[in-house]
Amino acid sequence: MKATAKSPANIAFIKYWGKTDLKTRIPKNNSISMCLSDMFSVCTVEFRKDLKKDEVEFKGEKIVKKRELERIIKTLDRVRKLGKTSLRARVTTENNFPKATGIASSASGLSAVTVAALGALNIKMNTKELSSLARLASGTAGRSIPDGFVEWVKGSEETESYSKQIFPVDWWEICDVVAVVTKKMKKVSSTEGHKLAETSPFYKERLKGMEKKIIRIKKAMRERNFSKFGRIVEDEALNMHAICMTSQPSIIYWSETTVKIIKEVMRWREEDLESYFTIDAGPSVHVICEKKQAQKIKKRLLKVKGVERAVVNNPSTGARLLA
Ligand code: PMV
Repeated sequence: MKATAKSPANIAFIKYWGKTDLKTRIPKNNSISMCLSDMFSVCTVEFRKDLKKDEVEFKGEKIVKKRELERIIKTLDRVRKLGKTSLRARVTTENNFPKATGIASSASGLSAVTVAALGALNIKMNTKELSSLARLASGTAGRSIPDGFVEWVKGSEETESYSKQIFPVDWWEICDVVAVVTKKMKKVSSTEGHKLAETSPFYKERLKGMEKKIIRIKKAMRERNFSKFGRIVEDEALNMHAICMTSQPSIIYWSETTVKIIKEVMRWREEDLESYFTIDAGPSVHVICEKKQAQKIKKRLLKVKGVERAVVNNPSTGARLLA
């Protein structure tokens, strides 16, 4: 009745911002992402007869919010329902990167809990079912289930909103060099941000362009056209953050260091060091480049004042049970 799972964070090239249904986390638009090799969560779940309530340990974390605990317990409840058991569980979970700073910690953390809990009860599922179940824990968690490059199909009902692989891990040697700029947790959660999206006067416009953008980026990925791909990625990040900044109240996830990195990336391009930035709901910046440039970019990022760490990620497999 015990299992351990490892699951990657993922970076969205086309973002999920805004939901059609808050509870079932059905998104307003499809999104496209890549699983990250070097930023992940490892989680062990053990269902035990001697436990009166669920016990959760976040290794290496001093502050644990009530909301985080509740999300894990809700995830266990969903799995308990499937396994027809009322046994309580002991959960130990650990990330190898700081959470809630614009690196998808809820994606890796909650997909790892889902897979470990299912494994502990020996429940088997296919990727579609599994990603759909993980989505209920955290929208982006569903995207950490398939390997490699992934599309989350928005769907219109609960079971039809799932993530699938669009290109395998070895399709394209691109990297996400993540510049970690703070260990502090962000002030406005992405759950709040999703709710506010529709208050931006530009949100309708954003959604109008989504389908075409998805078609264009998939074409660039199929052709491995890095310049075309990178321009779409950057444009999309700015588009999402324009929605955040013009929501009411406005959300600014960026810090001074975020802006500094954006300008540096643009400057490097003028010098023929080609890379593109993208940013999730936090100040950390993901610099997307071809593998041959990754170490050079890492070195340069570490020289930017305010950057605490830089981590090179290759495309990776999705969530897995560990033996
Ligand atoms: O899974 P959530 O609710 O934390 O959503 C975060 C969404 C973004 O990271 C900002 C974009 C994305 O698609 O990953």
